[in-house]
Amino acid sequence: MSIPAAIVRDRTGLQTLVDSWKADGATVGIVPTMGALHKGHLSLVDTMGRHADKTLVSIFVNPTQFGPNEDFDAYPRDEAGDLAALADTPADAVYIPDRRDMYPDGFDTAIRVGAIADRLEGASRPGHFDGVATIVAKLILTARADYAIFGEKDYQQLCVIRHMAADLNLPVTILGGTTVREDDGLASSSRNRYFDTESRPKAAGLNRALRDLTVDIRNGLDVTAACAKAEQSILSAGFASVDYVAVADAETLAPLTTPGARPGRVLAAARLHGVRLIDNLPL
Ligand code: PAF
Repeated sequence: MSIPAAIVRDRTGLQTLVDSWKADGATVGIVPTMGALHKGHLSLVDTMGRHADKTLVSIFVNPTQFGPNEDFDAYPRDEAGDLAALADTPADAVYIPDRRDMYPDGFDTAIRVGAIADRLEGASRPGHFDGVATIVAKLILTARADYAIFGEKDYQQLCVIRHMAADLNLPVTILGGTTVREDDGLASSSRNRYFDTESRPKAAGLNRALRDLTVDIRNGLDVTAACAKAEQSILSAGFASVDYVAVADAETLAPLTTPGARPGRVLAAARLHGVRLIDNLPL
């Protein structure tokens, strides 16, 4: 087993490394993560390895994207496990900054993306996407990344980042990675490790409800009725509450009232066993 060639812990070290890559004419791809790596992350690293000459993985649990009552302190952290997981992947380097490296004293800037960031997750988690957009812009710029990749599991995050990169003319290509799932359909997520043996099988109910929702919509069921049916199905699977079930325009995430007119996406967020799960599917 080999670990990635370089581990850098501050931005000066990262800039020196990237300068040496760029001096050789290499393109750089970044895979931003918050660690607790699972097979979904590893598939993003593999995909990046096919696009960029040099693949950089960042690991930073970003405090500014967590709300006051969210799980920042409890968020899983496992640096040794993450480095072992990255062995024998295309990762050339891992950037593991600390909080002061990312947010030095006096840091006082935020990027706010508009309407696309306000709905769905943005409505349930105010300020979340400001934190995401700001850290992602910082990572892309510090790494002088030619490519950056994000999983479709966090579909709205991917849309918000694409929008931000376009609005700010960031010289980067944003790639999306297909969601990796367990055998029962549950999307791979760092938070899945919070489930116990009783709650884990119930978690698949979210994906099942979304699959049924896509079928109902294609069969012509009214959007409001179809979403209400999906919400009921999630609750019947054992979830404690549902934040939203939505049928949205796949690009703007605005509500899609006449499916078929534009590419669509179904999205949902719900709580089970104290864990907030999200999932989505193309329509
Ligand atoms: O998806 C995540 O893990 C995070 O939101 C990201 C993109 C690494 C920003 O902190």
